[in-house]
Amino acid sequence: MSENLTHHGADGLISAAQAAAPATPIDLVRETELEAVLQAGGEALKALAGVHEFNAREGQVLMIADAEGKLARVLFGLGKGVPLRPMLLRALPGKLPPGDYRIGAAPDGGEPGLFALAWALGRYVFDRYRGEARRSDRPRLVVEEGAALEVVRRTAHACALARDMINTPANDLGPLQIETIVREVAQAHGATVASVEGDALLEAGYPAVHAVGRAAVPHRGPRMIELSWSGGGAAAPQLVLIGKGVVFDTGGLDIKPSSGMRLMKKDMGGAAHALALARMVMGAGLPVRLTLLLPVVENAISGDAMRPGDVIASRKGLSIEVGNTDAEGRLILADALARAGELGPDLTIDLATLTGAARVAVGPDLPAYFTDDDALAAGLEQAARSESDPVWRLPLWAAYGEALSSEVADLANDPAAWAQAGAVTAALFLQRFAPESGAWLHLDLFGWNGRGRPGWPVGGEAQAVRALFRLLEERYPA
Ligand code: BES
Ligand code: MN
Ligand code: ZN
Repeated sequence: MSENLTHHGADGLISAAQAAAPATPIDLVRETELEAVLQAGGEALKALAGVHEFNAREGQVLMIADAEGKLARVLFGLGKGVPLRPMLLRALPGKLPPGDYRIGAAPDGGEPGLFALAWALGRYVFDRYRGEARRSDRPRLVVEEGAALEVVRRTAHACALARDMINTPANDLGPLQIETIVREVAQAHGATVASVEGDALLEAGYPAVHAVGRAAVPHRGPRMIELSWSGGGAAAPQLVLIGKGVVFDTGGLDIKPSSGMRLMKKDMGGAAHALALARMVMGAGLPVRLTLLLPVVENAISGDAMRPGDVIASRKGLSIEVGNTDAEGRLILADALARAGELGPDLTIDLATLTGAARVAVGPDLPAYFTDDDALAAGLEQAARSESDPVWRLPLWAAYGEALSSEVADLANDPAAWAQAGAVTAALFLQRFAPESGAWLHLDLFGWNGRGRPGWPVGGEAQAVRALFRLLEERYPA
């Protein structure tokens, strides 16, 4: 299973030599250029565009046949095209018949690499539960081999890995399977993996991870997975990536209603994203020491489940009153953040499907991020824009921290209702455990397309990975 996941080869990008026949050109057309394109194409093209009401609007496709009725050319609308939105091309693979294509005319400033990446991301399908016969043939894009393509492939494969992991249901993606995938990725890049499981978490000093995960059946017991890679050498800055790995979130004894539980196979999305990012960092050979920390648990229900009102210990030494067993993500992240602090990091990034409140605030498509470091935030905004991979900043509003006070423990995991801003109070909870050294960045993401659009199918989505990678490339130039 993990074979399929980590060796995802279905990016649909091929070299000219691999193409079966001359590739069909796809001309990218802005609305303002349409007139000239139609003029050059003659009366027949003008008429065809008229019949199909092709106006070069964003994402519009016009297929043009030759004299034998075979597809000879494609026009793809970019709308105004200012600024150019390369990710529009994600829609193409789903709209074109199987066959080999190439980008023909493109506006100045269009990066071929971004077009290829959009193609690969848009071509993704999750079909591991469909028989071979029902897997559809998909179109391929002819691209120029070279260093730029390597980068595109690495990014596309990392995003596909994250999406595959999110899409795979919890019965096939438990803590052991996540560890297996991490080990495969580690092996491919010369990294090492240490994992602490089950009751050993108590001796190893991960009491909160243990408390959340102990209700699961033993073969799906909790674990803390730590991947280490020192590609940058012993003196290189320490980067820590952390991902929330709740393989399924029932809510625990504070059980979720069925509507709220339905998508909770994706509650390991943060871990999938962190692993994807780690893979890109290692693949690119960024000059860092990298540690990937994945607390992986099933928030299950059993006689041994943590109870509302329980007080649990944490690695940092702070006691936590469990006001709500459904606020489990922040508990396991608390131990991971404390571990990160022991490494003296230059930068710590955690990714998590942490709160429903973040979705109420900014909806499914915008990962909310939190940091005290304005320069880091500015860098992320810039990176997000250049990658067409959006994020939105929310405040670490210190005064709401009071909502996390507890009558009996150092803090509570369920914020008092008066504070209302659930994504903010969750971030403030994490901040209590974040490393003192270096910068800290927290992302509260959805990792899911609820509505399907061509190129964005319903299901797992990799969000902010490309923006974060660019941020890292700029912080740690080769
Ligand atoms: N995994 C959920 C958050 C979530 C829910 C993300 C729906 C995306 C979609 C998390 O563990 C959770 O249940 N959070 C609670 C916290 C609350 C009990 C303080 C929430 O957001 O309601
Ligand atoms: Mn929960
Ligand atoms: Zn959760």
